[in-house]
Amino acid sequence: MKEPIILGIESSCDETAAAVVRGRTLLSDEIASSASVHAKYGGVVPEIASRAHADAVDDVVSRALAAAGVGKGELDAVAVTYGAGLLGSLLVGLSFAKGFAYGLGVPLIGVNHIRGHLAAAYLEDPTLEPPFVTLLASGGHTAILYAPGEGTFEVLGGTLDDAAGEAFDKVARVLGLPYPGGPRVEELARQGRPSVPMPKMLKGIGGYDFSYSGLKTYIVNYAHTMEQRGEAWSRADLACSFQHAALDILAEKAVEAAREKGCGTVTAGGGVIANGYLRELLAARCAEAGLRLVLPAKKRCTDNGAMIAAEGLLKYKRGEFSPLSLNAQASIPLR
Ligand code: KG4
Ligand code: ZN
Repeated sequence: MKEPIILGIESSCDETAAAVVRGRTLLSDEIASSASVHAKYGGVVPEIASRAHADAVDDVVSRALAAAGVGKGELDAVAVTYGAGLLGSLLVGLSFAKGFAYGLGVPLIGVNHIRGHLAAAYLEDPTLEPPFVTLLASGGHTAILYAPGEGTFEVLGGTLDDAAGEAFDKVARVLGLPYPGGPRVEELARQGRPSVPMPKMLKGIGGYDFSYSGLKTYIVNYAHTMEQRGEAWSRADLACSFQHAALDILAEKAVEAAREKGCGTVTAGGGVIANGYLRELLAARCAEAGLRLVLPAKKRCTDNGAMIAAEGLLKYKRGEFSPLSLNAQASIPLR
């Protein structure tokens, strides 16, 4: 059977992204980010993000098709993020995708952004098949899921309050690092040692659940107290200690879940999975436990079009198409 060619479009936050896949082969992966514009405001400004998407989407899609060497007429479907995300931003990508699909006479496939993050691993290893356990860690979600079959997920546990990425962003602000915070904290942590004692609360959360709000508050208080006392302290050591506390537990619980489920493979997705320390840790823990680890490339952990095309492919194979009346959704519950 001929492999379907699918265009994926993502515009839920501050990245306008488009990619083309032929089956599970990634043909192109293009992105335009408005992050540097938001940096001076300390976070994403929704109105600016929407306008940036409107300016970029046509060009990014054209670049994705050109880089893939695929003509519009060769597309079998157009997949697009319809939620969760910033409504104005989502509407730009969704409206564009509807027009594109309608004009070409091919199906529209609405993709849940989080499902996209979970599907990114499929592009990394063409032999990847369920069952597997997936660690999801993004700006809005932190969870451990079990995939018994293609496209089906059981949530084993998740964050009780903040997401891991959110904690990185907050800690970045306290450390005086610009938006986007996660990569900056990682950079700073590389120059430090895990010498600051961290609260044990994360370890106390049972099952596959997480809680980051206590750790976040602890870091904020630590920095403020040291400042007030005028004591010497190392920002790099605090970043490094936080990074260990926030990420060790993710690797530990992901490996434990795979063991309990008796499946031999762990995958991961979401912006926090781009963290080099976490990637090395997962690799080491999985190797120790005799588990196969499939991680999306770093640029396919943070928001991208390829993951939307990957999830689009799974839905295409199941014949799950969307009506042109599909609306954008600001939030979609994980469970
Ligand atoms: O998946 P993503 O790009 O967007 C959402 O769907 O939320 O994730 C963004 C989150 C942000 O909180 C960002 O700080 C975090 O992922 N992040 C990182 C790194 N790169 C991005 N966190 C830690 N280390 C990184 N290298
Ligand atoms: Zn995302």
